[in-house]
Amino acid sequence: MNKRLALFPVSTQVQQNELFIGGCSLTSLAEQFGTPLYLYDKADLDSAASRYRRALGAFWPGQWSVTYAGKAFLSIEIAKWAAGYGFSVDCTGLGEIGIAVQAGVAKEQILVHGVNKSREDLSTAIEKTGTIVVDNLSELKKIAKLRKNEMPNLWLRFQPGLAVETHAYTQTGHSESKFGMGRETLFEAVHFCRSNDLPLAGIHFHQGSQFRDPAPLAPAIDAALELAAEIGFGEGWHLSPGGGWGMAYHEDELPHPSIEDYVQFVAEKVQAGCQKHGLTLPHLHLEPGRSLVAKAGVALYRVGTVKHSGGRTWVLVDGGLADNPRPALYGARYSALTATKVTGGTPQVVFIAGPYCESGDVLIEGIELGAVEEGDLIAIPMSGAYHISMSSNYNGARRPAVVMVENGQAHELLRRENTADLFRRDV
Ligand SMILES: Cc1ncc(COP(=O)(O)O)c(C=O)c1O
Repeated sequence: MNKRLALFPVSTQVQQNELFIGGCSLTSLAEQFGTPLYLYDKADLDSAASRYRRALGAFWPGQWSVTYAGKAFLSIEIAKWAAGYGFSVDCTGLGEIGIAVQAGVAKEQILVHGVNKSREDLSTAIEKTGTIVVDNLSELKKIAKLRKNEMPNLWLRFQPGLAVETHAYTQTGHSESKFGMGRETLFEAVHFCRSNDLPLAGIHFHQGSQFRDPAPLAPAIDAALELAAEIGFGEGWHLSPGGGWGMAYHEDELPHPSIEDYVQFVAEKVQAGCQKHGLTLPHLHLEPGRSLVAKAGVALYRVGTVKHSGGRTWVLVDGGLADNPRPALYGARYSALTATKVTGGTPQVVFIAGPYCESGDVLIEGIELGAVEEGDLIAIPMSGAYHISMSSNYNGARRPAVVMVENGQAHELLRRENTADLFRRDV
């Protein structure tokens, strides 16, 4: 049980067999805000942000920045939280740029990614952001046509031909990937920047998401530094080896190497590589999403029905695929606790599934829980990244409310959608 509790946010406590997060009882949060409910523990967010800051300060001797990958979960308050730590915000396209701008994130703290940025994405990025990570040559040519007097920095996205070990759908750095440019194309892009006087300032690569072994970063860092030396980058150049550091989602994956292990690995490899290739140390950027917000988030569901079918016990809850598509997309494995009966009851293996019309709408394929009954609350930890940002209105689902909890107080970051939200776009 303690291993399972370790998946929950840092402020989690068990009081009289009930889960409390941020000093709030999950039962009262469910009563106040309804279910399904997503809650974010402010203390956990702060702890992850501070750990990145401290680790970079300890292991990297030069300038550094953290860029929060907003694709993991973005709202105005989360963008403000990231900026409050001095972090930049990575935005994919004009929608996320809009949220960051609305949150008051400074122009130079907004960085734009995207593999097929539209003209509108690019013109918004040129006007409102500090850095565009250029994915391909045709994008670079569009940028040249849209150029303004004042331009954001341009970094080129390198495809190192090496991915990290993770689900195939979250690998990005391999040679068949749709992301980035191989060596040859990247040099064409460098030449294009130089002959068109575009502000080329750095190199980015990203090898995938949710990895726990940093080893495949080493040859990619070396290849990127070799490129940088050939390009001839000098003082003040930028290197971003992306994000993607993974987290344990299930007690079987514990212990998981730490944020500090990851930062130290990158910092040492970049320093050694710069020495080898005769480069000045770059301004080093890390781009974490999941490892900043996943553990802070907990999904809270109400059990509607417990039913038995072909030897299985199905615990049917009021959310699933529409707010968390990850099990269906990647076979992601989760753990859970019954919020009001953390221990006790005869253990049984149950399957936790949602209400949607897909057999793949299964949140957990087999987990041991004490007796679960209708009306109980199921808390699923590690729900802070790529849930709400990937959520849908499938079957008319109204996206859940999202609340921040801290010191016994809770406030909404995002209100629950209602039925009127579902026909707001009808014309
Ligand atoms: C370019 C880029 N940067 C950063 C991230 C963040 O990854 P993670 O949330 O796994 O840290 C991603 C996610 O795929 C990405 O594609």
